[in-house]
Amino acid sequence: MRIVGLIGLALLATQDGASVPPDTLPEVLTATIPLGLPESLADVLRAPVAEVALGRRLFFDPILSIDRTIACASCHDPAHGMASGTALSSGVHGARTLRNAPAIVNRALGASFMWDGRVATLEEQVLQPIANELEMDLALDDAVARLAADDAYRAEFAAVFSAAPSRATLANALASFVRRLLSGDSPVDRFRTGDIGALSQAERSGLWLYESRGGCWRCHSGPNFTDEAFHTTGVGAQDGVPEPGRFAITRDEADRGRFKTPTLRDVAASAPYMHDGSLATLADVVEFYRQGGRPNSNLDAHLRPIDLSDEDAEHLVAFLRALSARRP
Ligand code: HEC
Ligand code: HEC
Repeated sequence: MRIVGLIGLALLATQDGASVPPDTLPEVLTATIPLGLPESLADVLRAPVAEVALGRRLFFDPILSIDRTIACASCHDPAHGMASGTALSSGVHGARTLRNAPAIVNRALGASFMWDGRVATLEEQVLQPIANELEMDLALDDAVARLAADDAYRAEFAAVFSAAPSRATLANALASFVRRLLSGDSPVDRFRTGDIGALSQAERSGLWLYESRGGCWRCHSGPNFTDEAFHTTGVGAQDGVPEPGRFAITRDEADRGRFKTPTLRDVAASAPYMHDGSLATLADVVEFYRQGGRPNSNLDAHLRPIDLSDEDAEHLVAFLRALSARRP
């Protein structure tokens, strides 16, 4: 079985910053579903290779930002687990994003997008950063015109879509690439499929805590370690008052302070953590949960202080680290 991982992306990003030649990342084009991920991904793997390659090229190309300095990969950096290594990310003209850039792995399994779930489809999602003034600040019509004026892109769009660049084809190419960023085949997956030696004693103990006393599985559930639902953990709450979170989208009081449960796959690579990047390390995250999240008026009913020894906390961190894709 071929190993699907992001390591190829990581190596290239360090070589050549944001602009990476498109045909040098074979890993994302492999034909097998990584161990631990569901068969429903078969459709994703059937996307035409040329379309994924075009999306990959666009993802790493700063042509989609107004001053040609920022690519998608500037904030979703392969060297940082497809997230940013800083709490907030830098866009054009020194702007800072309002939230932490999420790790965009296994988004093919996503039910909604953004920390507050305000975007319904990946095709819709991938166009937003281009026009967002804090990110790439390029009007979509201008982005399309730039691609149409570029001989190489014009030829590639014609070959893939039999059409000129447009919002729709741009969205399709980017979304097809993002869907191929799959992370599975971690030591935890190998342990669960019978390779008892895949996890150390400490990692096994952490897995047990995650499934029992830690209660992490209640929200970080299923093959992608997320329920794709929204919960108030209290990150960002001030004096017991949570941030609006999903309430700003639904205007439903029950949603006050709720943010989308992120995947835990490859989480070791994507520090800092939480929607505001306020927790620097996995040990900080575990300590946050040990205290039951941060008190606030809409704290999720599943969160309360957890009785964990220091050693237990270390084991939970070891387990989280063991959720990283196998690296060759
Ligand atoms: C300047 C930094 C920056 C750039 C550039 C950027 N993003 Fe993002 N991205 C973010 C931030 C921050 C969020 C979360 C925003 C929120 O939830 O309010 C995000 C969210 C996302 C999500 C949603 C993930 C999820 O799980 O909900 C996807 C997918 C995504 N970006 C893809 C892209 C693509 C494709 C590009 C290039 C066209 C891109 N991003 C460019 C910072 C950036
Ligand atoms: C009530 C649901 C719930 C439970 C239980 C829960 N989490 Fe979370 N988790 C979330 C939500 C929601 C976020 C995002 C919070 C935010 O940023 O506002 C999150 C964020 C995280 C992150 C940060 C990931 C990233 O990419 O930023 C980690 C790591 C994490 N949780 C691990 C755990 C562990 C370990 C446990 C068990 C001790 C646990 N969670 C229990 C819902 C939950």
